[in-house]
Amino acid sequence: EEGRGGGEEYLFKIVVIGDSAVGKSNLLSRFARDEFDHNSKATIGVEFQTQVVELDGKEIKAQVWDTAGQERFRAVTSAYYRGAVGALIVYDISRKITFESVKRWLEELNTHCDTTVAKMLVGNKCDLENIREVSVDEGKALAEEEGLFFIETSALDSTNVKKAFEIVIREIY
Ligand code: GTP
Ligand code: MG
Repeated sequence: EEGRGGGEEYLFKIVVIGDSAVGKSNLLSRFARDEFDHNSKATIGVEFQTQVVELDGKEIKAQVWDTAGQERFRAVTSAYYRGAVGALIVYDISRKITFESVKRWLEELNTHCDTTVAKMLVGNKCDLENIREVSVDEGKALAEEEGLFFIETSALDSTNVKKAFEIVIREIY
């Protein structure tokens, strides 16, 4: 790898988890490439993107891992979580059932990672206000109960996507 300026380097592994179709892959493509796909296919296995974030004048590489929400498409779970220092637990504000799954995702995360992982609860698709099934207060309450940061995002219109990742990175750093 070229381009090392002799300064310190930071590489943070962040995992994105949550039910299928909540928008994990689109959050990642919005963050890393400023792209959105209306017809994205379900992820199979694991993908990751590395994005450089500038924080307090330091270059930080966020290596963001994305996997399938569907059990049958998931890769080896322990490898997915290994070395993670941050996590985004994502649900879809227009589908309550995905919010109800958050506790299960947290259990899996806590089984494979220690408690120092910076965790952000993400209510995605906040552009779908007219068909909202999970209120902001419900999201906030769960986050408080579980000791997580909380934010609502839209990968579609870009609302808070950068911010969600930056808060997690800042907490790690
Ligand atoms: P799996 O890979 O199966 O776990 O799904 P995923 O969580 O990666 O979901 P994905 O990013 O593939 O998005 C699923 C669908 O939701 C796609 O049709 C996206 O276009 C749509 N979508 C994702 N984010 C948003 C958003 O913020 N708003 C709206 N309205 N649609 C979104
Ligand atoms: Mg996906």
